[in-house]
Amino acid sequence: MTMQRPLIAGNWKMHKTPQETEEFIVEFLPKLEGVEGIEVLIIPPFTSLDRAGSLLHGKSLRLGTQDMHYEAEGAFTGAISARMLKACGCSYVLVGHSERRELFHDDDTIVARKLNAVLDADLMPILCVGETLSEHDRVEEKITRQLTQDLAGIDGKVLAKMTIAYEPIWAIGTGKTATPEVAQETISMIRAWIASHYDSATAQATRVLYGGSVKPANAELLLAQPDIDGALVGGASLVAEAFGQIVDAARLQ
Ligand code: PGA
Repeated sequence: MTMQRPLIAGNWKMHKTPQETEEFIVEFLPKLEGVEGIEVLIIPPFTSLDRAGSLLHGKSLRLGTQDMHYEAEGAFTGAISARMLKACGCSYVLVGHSERRELFHDDDTIVARKLNAVLDADLMPILCVGETLSEHDRVEEKITRQLTQDLAGIDGKVLAKMTIAYEPIWAIGTGKTATPEVAQETISMIRAWIASHYDSATAQATRVLYGGSVKPANAELLLAQPDIDGALVGGASLVAEAFGQIVDAARLQ
């Protein structure tokens, strides 16, 4: 890991009712006792945010959301604004998750607009980038294109406080994890891109996570890589025990 404060984030996707969310939080919070120097975040679906926010008030476990509309309010049926999310206690927003890009057609123009709206609202974005299996041999080209378009107009000082998640799409929900070496290599390429487009201080300061089939069994080796500052966890974050073990793996670094 670099000097960044590590972040372990659990993206629940379309899982858990408010009641199930409460049960998870009640079981999980004791596992954070004594955990210092690591940020831990859950990202439940919209319908669970208000309940989660009430339960987490004053607690160290952070709350995030899987998506946000870029407009402040208005006739946008089905959409959720920054103000609504902040009122639920959210501090983080996933932007450009590959499922949003692929299934809901969030292209790079929309991702860039959402990213700017998240920053304007003083929320913290986690910008997700990554390549499909067929793009894997051109990974640098794909990631470079996403970074160039998604971060257009973003100042280095802002980027330095942001989080980027590298998630190879072929590793998401498939049980196929990028090897620690492959994850390290791509994340170091992301830092090299930041260094050349901004400067090396910004490249070192930006927090970069790995995501894609992170489990208790592989978390320690992934998190031990020099450029990996934490994990964006899907499936394994739904079970309090497993998510707690991934947080423990971050504590060993
Ligand atoms: P996974 O999901 O851990 O279930 O592969 C990761 C993600 O999509 O954020």
